[in-house]
Amino acid sequence: MGLKALCGLLLMVLAGCAAAPPLNPGTPPASSILTQANQPFHRGVNVLGYDPYWTDTAKRRFQWRHFAEIRKGGFDFVRVVLQAFKHMDANNRLDPAWLAKLDEVVREAQKAGLGIILDEHDFNPCSEDLHVCSAKLTAFWQQVAPRYANHPRTVAFELLNEPHDKLNGESWNRLFAEQLALVRQTNPNRIVVVGPTHWNSLNDLPLLKLPPDPNLLVTFHYYDPFHFTHQGATWAGEDVKKLKGVTWGSDQDRAALSSDFDKVAAWSDAHNRPILLGEFGAYDNSGTPLDLRVAYTAAVRAEAERHGFDWSYWQFDGDFIVWDMKTQRWIEPIHKALIP
Ligand code: BGC
Repeated sequence: MGLKALCGLLLMVLAGCAAAPPLNPGTPPASSILTQANQPFHRGVNVLGYDPYWTDTAKRRFQWRHFAEIRKGGFDFVRVVLQAFKHMDANNRLDPAWLAKLDEVVREAQKAGLGIILDEHDFNPCSEDLHVCSAKLTAFWQQVAPRYANHPRTVAFELLNEPHDKLNGESWNRLFAEQLALVRQTNPNRIVVVGPTHWNSLNDLPLLKLPPDPNLLVTFHYYDPFHFTHQGATWAGEDVKKLKGVTWGSDQDRAALSSDFDKVAAWSDAHNRPILLGEFGAYDNSGTPLDLRVAYTAAVRAEAERHGFDWSYWQFDGDFIVWDMKTQRWIEPIHKALIP
């Protein structure tokens, strides 16, 4: 075949390729879907959820230099825990002073070189009353999403932490789709974090109905076995809050962890979605020996990484701490369990 004929054939093949219809018009092409490798959130820590910064700044524990410590300590992002509903007026307008504080958090975390997930954390009021939830969550994202629309892709939005109770089942799929559509009006490509019902339980992943949106990062939270991680925790329910001395670390415990994460990985492969383990840890104020909490934390972090999940530890300070505000140092064994 002459060179001209060869070129002609090549042109025809190329034209044919360009005109070929997509295999499934409702699904984004695999090449454009967010993957573990092309998204910026890998090793993170939850911050500022229960800090007086939001209500009485003079009493704040978290200072801006802590962002630099977090970055230096080997983390690349923070999940900023926002309980914004109580900072809204009767018309669901967010207090301008609260918004200015949020701007400062974003600016300072960025200065330290950290990615930021803005996590709306009113999961309890939301799961109790769908009407109130829908109104307030809509108002929240209507005000917050455009505000950060021009920020780089190292800022992500998590539409709601841990849906449960009244948000179990289809109500969450509906609410999530509505909120996502709202965010997409101003942030067409922003990474949005979404998780399943029953407090972001991995068992509910199969119930999650995701729209064909390429920029979703799917999250789950892992505190199993709950009677180990939450023994003595006042909010953990009558049976668990009375528990003491529960251990963790047998071969059986480790096998259960590994098989749980296998299920998440299988779901992730089948649905072609990257995974963020957004919260995990073991409660520290219950007398559970540090070495057991360290073994658990190290094992969960290692299994997450082995399965190709990114993660954020619960939490920087307050409880479950990895940073000690009294000594202004890392709790070294927990820190090492996370960043070896
Ligand atoms: C809640 C915290 C709680 C943690 C572990 C988080 O989602 O906001 O209040 O300490 O889960 O139970």
